Amino acid sequence: MKIFVTGASGFIGGSVASRLVLAGHAVRGLVRDPAKLGAVRRTGVEPVLGTLDDTALLSREAQAADAVINAASSDDRPAIEAIVAALAGSGKALIHTSGSSIVADEAMGEPSDRIFDEDTPFNPAPEKAARVALDRFVLAAPGVRSIVLCNSLIYGTGLGAEPESAQLPRLAAEAHKTGIARHIGRGRNIWSTVHIADVAALYLLALDKAPAGTFCFVENGETSFGAMVGAIATRLGLGAPQPWPAEQAIAALGRQTAVFSLGSNSRVRAHRARSVLGWAPTYGSVLDWIGTELPKA
Ligand SMILES: NC(=O)c1ccc[n+]([C@@H]2O[C@H](COP(=O)([O-])OP(=O)(O)OC[C@H]3O[C@@H](n4cnc5c(N)ncnc54)[C@H](OP(=O)(O)O)[C@@H]3O)[C@@H](O)[C@H]2O)c1
Repeated sequence: MKIFVTGASGFIGGSVASRLVLAGHAVRGLVRDPAKLGAVRRTGVEPVLGTLDDTALLSREAQAADAVINAASSDDRPAIEAIVAALAGSGKALIHTSGSSIVADEAMGEPSDRIFDEDTPFNPAPEKAARVALDRFVLAAPGVRSIVLCNSLIYGTGLGAEPESAQLPRLAAEAHKTGIARHIGRGRNIWSTVHIADVAALYLLALDKAPAGTFCFVENGETSFGAMVGAIATRLGLGAPQPWPAEQAIAALGRQTAVFSLGSNSRVRAHRARSVLGWAPTYGSVLDWIGTELPKA
């Protein structure tokens, strides 16, 4: 198949694009930074220089492809509207990348017993309402085989042009810089996690056989941030992790990251990916990965 992937120089998009190439597909990938064209080309992806703001380019690429995968942004509505308009009525597949912070709370390091699967109703925080609305817009796209993959915290080394994911390497870099590994508040908040190789496998599976209107959470296990930060401290040879007061974390990282990525609970269950698509993830432990593979510097 001819597949157009946005975010081809990124962690998720680069990994998915590389796996598609290995599977024999012809992949064109959106790249906004000219300095990254070579790295993307070396993975076997044909880079297309441009940004999500270039809706004419997105339309052209979507119409020329057999399927589109958006992994550049979970939140860019105009770009998605352009892709959906270009694909409308074609029956082609569109996989949109979302993130499980759509169910995140504002616990700032405290635990929660709320667990969500694809059928659990929820009211997103105001900051996440636009992302949820965008997911629903994609799922309702007319005449498009629309799929939303809602990833939890992804760990592992990227399989394409970008090796690092946003959360854990960022926490590790902060710990490395300051000499102190910190979790938000008491660090008892829990996130579901999943390895990038299992994520990429699910994108290929969904491309192959997900019916129109499929929404899937993506996880294979869960861990508290306290445990993950503890493992980072051990990996980096630092002392015991310390609590990061909410106001300081927000000032250092910004509200989106401190509250919704690192301080919240986001406990999801990937029932649909397993039961409908037959997804069988093989990596089980983020703590093992931190302990053996997380880059130390
Ligand atoms: N990683 C996770 O654990 C995770 C989990 C759930 C959801 N998500 C969401 O999934 C999306 C992708 O995540 P990621 O981890 O793959 O991020 P990433 O590594 O930063 O990759 C995003 C890629 O998209 C490109 N991009 C961003 N905005 C663009 C624009 N306006 N025009 C053209 N290209 C653009 C970036 O280009 P540059 O290389 O030039 O920056 C980058 O290559 C994000 O919205 C993220 O919030 C991520």
